[in-house]
Amino acid sequence: MLSQRRILLAVTGGIAVYKSLELLRLLKKQGAEVRVVMTQAATAFVQLLSFQALSGHAVHCELLDTEVEHAMGHIELARWADVFVIAPATANTLAKMAHGLADDLVSTLYLAANCPVYIAPAMNHVMWNHPATQANVKILQNHGINLISPESGEQACGEIGVGRMAEPETVCQRLISDLTMPQSLANLNVVITAGATREPLDPVRYLTNRSSGKMGYALALAAQKAGANVTLISGVTQLKPPANCNFVQVETAEQMHAAVFENIENCDIFIGTAAVADYRPVVCGGEKIKKNADQLTLTLQKNPDILADVAALKTPPFTVGFAAETNDLEHYARDKLTRKNLNMIAANWVGRAEGGFERDENALDVFWQDGKKTLPMTNKTELACQLITLIAERFDAKTKI
Ligand code: C5P
Repeated sequence: MLSQRRILLAVTGGIAVYKSLELLRLLKKQGAEVRVVMTQAATAFVQLLSFQALSGHAVHCELLDTEVEHAMGHIELARWADVFVIAPATANTLAKMAHGLADDLVSTLYLAANCPVYIAPAMNHVMWNHPATQANVKILQNHGINLISPESGEQACGEIGVGRMAEPETVCQRLISDLTMPQSLANLNVVITAGATREPLDPVRYLTNRSSGKMGYALALAAQKAGANVTLISGVTQLKPPANCNFVQVETAEQMHAAVFENIENCDIFIGTAAVADYRPVVCGGEKIKKNADQLTLTLQKNPDILADVAALKTPPFTVGFAAETNDLEHYARDKLTRKNLNMIAANWVGRAEGGFERDENALDVFWQDGKKTLPMTNKTELACQLITLIAERFDAKTKI
């Protein structure tokens, strides 16, 4: 059920607008309170009055509406919402959202909203597959939006391909499963490290690695959905941190180490997903290194192992590590589990065609002292929810001993 959830539904202009009437009906049936906004183009497909009658509230499509600004203006509407759903989302609206344009009510609400955002795109399959649309969707995913992927089949134009808006039942089910995830981490403090660290060589150069931070950010979001208070300590990434988490931006391994230990008191669960640089240059001069010599030798100093240091605390939190391996996955993961004294380790293959660094999908083999579970290849959002559920189970098992 979605009882008392405040859902802001934005309807943009495509033939799939009729599906949103059904979506509105389903959401209301689930107990949600729904307010609808529309683009001008959407009103060409279905009358504003239809949404008004079904939602039981005034429906607006103008940004500068004198009638509205003394009632619920766009900022109030954005603050009112627990969740913002854009369905159908046209290529035009996705492009505006991706690039921060705010020339109508829907795109302005997107910029003003600080709640979770869902998009259910709908368009012709060639438009969906166009590099411009795909790039915009990637940008939006990096903003942290939740994509409800379009489906394949016959389209309104008679062509066949991927681009049909997901069925209203699918959209509704996704919202139910995300918004009503079991509160298995309710009131627990979870600290997560994410992304790559940067180790400066001189004022312009640094050593780093391929980690995008996607897994760590997805875990932060999943832990929040499970009711945790989340602190996300992140290296530099292209990603938008989840709203309402304690976000700490760092650059180097030493800064990450310091930030973790500033936030570790009262931490119940620590998850180290960051790809922390193992070494840093011993010297980082104030001046740019010149290319005079044919060879240049860098001397590197070992960085502190954040995860091992957390696990070595007198009363450590439940500690979860990650292991990215190119071979002998279980052997190396179990070795790390024991050596670093962890409660759990999530291992994944890197350097293969699927999954790993920079990808949107991944698979994990998770190990603990007397057990193992495989989480098969899926998108990192879903994988993160599965891993959080598993962590909650193991955390419960340990605290009940
Ligand atoms: O030993 P290795 O670097 O392979 O272990 C990986 C795990 O240890 C990851 O969970 C990573 O976040 C963590 N780690 C760390 N500090 C380091 C190196 C790795 O927390 N300096």
